[in-house]
Amino acid sequence: MNNIFLDTIHGKNTERPPVWFMRQAGRVLPNYRALKENYTFSELMEDPKLAAEVTWMPIYDLGVDAAILFSDILVVPEALGMSLKFTDAGPEFGAPLHTFDDPVAQLKRDMSKLDHVYGAIDKIIETRAEGKPLIGFCGGLLTTFCFMFRDNVRDITFKNATEFLYKNRKASEQIIDALAEVSIEYALTQVKHGVQAFQLFETYGGLIPEDLYLELFLPASKKILNAVRDAGVPTIYFPKDLGNGIKAIDKEVADFVGIDWRMSLNHAREIVDPEVGLQGNLDPRLLYASQPEIEKVLNEKYLPFGRDNQKWIFNLGHGILPDLPVENVKFVIDWVKSVDWGRK
Ligand code: CP3
Repeated sequence: MNNIFLDTIHGKNTERPPVWFMRQAGRVLPNYRALKENYTFSELMEDPKLAAEVTWMPIYDLGVDAAILFSDILVVPEALGMSLKFTDAGPEFGAPLHTFDDPVAQLKRDMSKLDHVYGAIDKIIETRAEGKPLIGFCGGLLTTFCFMFRDNVRDITFKNATEFLYKNRKASEQIIDALAEVSIEYALTQVKHGVQAFQLFETYGGLIPEDLYLELFLPASKKILNAVRDAGVPTIYFPKDLGNGIKAIDKEVADFVGIDWRMSLNHAREIVDPEVGLQGNLDPRLLYASQPEIEKVLNEKYLPFGRDNQKWIFNLGHGILPDLPVENVKFVIDWVKSVDWGRK
């Protein structure tokens, strides 16, 4: 397949950076909102035909260079026996892990819970938008761990999870290992069904001290990413808010690292292994501004970086927010595809 996203992630030179956005398949799209009038998020995700339709939607409606599987990171705890509901306010587990004396004993593997995802991937591949690659994903280990302990759908402090982590180090390690084991099998099965790149979404990578993250979560994360790469698929690791901790993500860990908006791409480029590519890092909230203001930032910050750096995938520093003006989302994508990057 000849595609600018695949070329870049495989290390080939291109005339412009490829562009896709985290959380591109969702509420910012009018066609997605129209579907949501008739179906819940779970119905969309669990029906292969609908999941395929939503997966390809941003290719047609926004013009991005790659699609990402329409699913959610929290299906992995379901495969460890936890019951999950997506409410209007967000995802909720029936029995969060801190409510048990022995949470580890609660984890009962049932990989068949993930079958709907593979059915969706088959349909996505069958209905592929011509020449467009599919990105697979799973949740980062700390982020997934945090949600497994959450008992309030609005809580983003993840007190239960962090308290448990400090009080029960050994049990925490067992939960991390169980998550990693399921994630490896899940990721490899996604690869078998045809995903062409793979991203690990560690949204809450900045929740605990950097050294603790690197000690407790990096080794198991590396195992997931290495398993995928050994199966021939390039990897992107997005440990949001890990700060200078991203120095630890060398070529042995991942092919690309996602940069959040707090750190400049230039600083990231200085500290990350030169063999590792970067992805990011436009602040999604800039898309609330007017188009001339957006364009000024693109011209001043992103054009020079993209001229000088081939190993870079244009993306946001976190996911699209549901209330961003869709015309501004499109404006940025059109800009990336039409500006003269001056690459030699
Ligand atoms: O990027 C994509 O468009 C692909 C699909 C995708 C979804 N969730 C669909 C979704 C991906 C990659 C995710 C990842 C995810 N899910 C993360 C990590 C990345 C991030 O954005 O931080 C997290 C923490 C979750 C857990 C989750 N799922 C939350 C907290 C919520 C509710 C809040 C929200 O963001 O909407 C969800 C629901 C969810 N997952 C929706 C979508 C499209 C919204 C469902 C709806 O339309 O009502």
